Amino acid sequence: MSYCLITLKKFGEFIREEIDSKDLLNASFRIKVEDKYLIIPIDRELTRDELSVLSKIDSAIKQSFRNDLQPSKSLPKSHFDVLQPLFSEKEMEFIPRSFDTIGDIIVIEIPEELVDKKEIIGNALLTAHTSIKTVYAKAGKVEGINRIRPVEYLVGEKKTKTIYKEHGVRLAVDITQAYFSPRLSEEHSRIANKTKVNEIIVDLFCGIGPFAIPIAKKVDSQIHAIDINPGAIALLQESISLNKLLGTIISYCGDCRKVVDEQNLEHIADRVIMNLPGYAIDFVDVACKTLKKEGGIIHFFEFVGGENPEKTIVEDISREIAKNDRKIDSVLEVRKVRMSAPRQWQMVADVLVI
Ligand SMILES: C[S@@+](CC[C@H](N)C(=O)[O-])C[C@H]1O[C@@H](n2cnc3c(N)ncnc32)[C@H](O)[C@@H]1O
Repeated sequence: MSYCLITLKKFGEFIREEIDSKDLLNASFRIKVEDKYLIIPIDRELTRDELSVLSKIDSAIKQSFRNDLQPSKSLPKSHFDVLQPLFSEKEMEFIPRSFDTIGDIIVIEIPEELVDKKEIIGNALLTAHTSIKTVYAKAGKVEGINRIRPVEYLVGEKKTKTIYKEHGVRLAVDITQAYFSPRLSEEHSRIANKTKVNEIIVDLFCGIGPFAIPIAKKVDSQIHAIDINPGAIALLQESISLNKLLGTIISYCGDCRKVVDEQNLEHIADRVIMNLPGYAIDFVDVACKTLKKEGGIIHFFEFVGGENPEKTIVEDISREIAKNDRKIDSVLEVRKVRMSAPRQWQMVADVLVI
């Protein structure tokens, strides 16, 4: 018996990858085909919010509880099951529960206590997740102007490049060449869903395009996508050709301040995306410059700690906007995106600027 999702076959692969990336696939049972539907077993009942994320891929998706599913060929359920007979009880306590799945690559943080067993953990991940080809360990913090995290190869195929799928789009990712985080997946689709037909969007720090591609996939719009890292722009170009897009993406490699000046991107944007937490505050003047004179929306991302991060992020962006002779007409939404460190959040504030 298992909870399961009932989805149209044509969306099945996207739904399966989405739930596998959240580690919710119930590998104890086989996926079943019924007419034009796939019945995908899942580990637990999904929340209404989780279902609503999936309904963006298949609007008719349903959840159900079934007792007619075939058990799979005794695949281990998780890396925990594989490691249980090999590790002591104390060691088992240190095994990380979560990791990033990017296409067929896993990136995991190995705790200090288990460094000498990192390959064994990598192999357990390969055994438990049959779609995974390669496992890397985090080897430091996201760093430098390009915001790339150093990684250490652990096991599997020696490759750093993969195709990551989310919300019906394909993104070319190379974990050593440009920043990418699957943990922002909900944010990518949230902003795409807010964008309207014919909008002009400037993404000041576009990376490999996880905001630009979903927007262009969803609406006929024009996106000016800027990044200082040539590796990120090359991957964005690749993703443009991997997807059927309604909108147009124009990409630029360079410092966004220079690009906005040199490419005459002043006062064109209905919407500006600023996902460079920690540094975006220094580019609010560039965002104000590129927004239409009559106004537009800024999606401002920042790392914020303290008692009231919602209040702090709005105060920070308001102060900077005021320095540019503009003001916030209204705060449309403020939300916590993810925990970025103990007692620190990556926050986003959507503000309408006039
Ligand atoms: C945190 S990453 C976010 C990338 C992308 N928006 C995403 O969500 O995956 C920030 C990006 O800003 C780029 N960057 C840093 N400084 C920049 C600048 N002055 N002008 C343009 N891009 C810059 C980095 O290369 C990096 O790809």
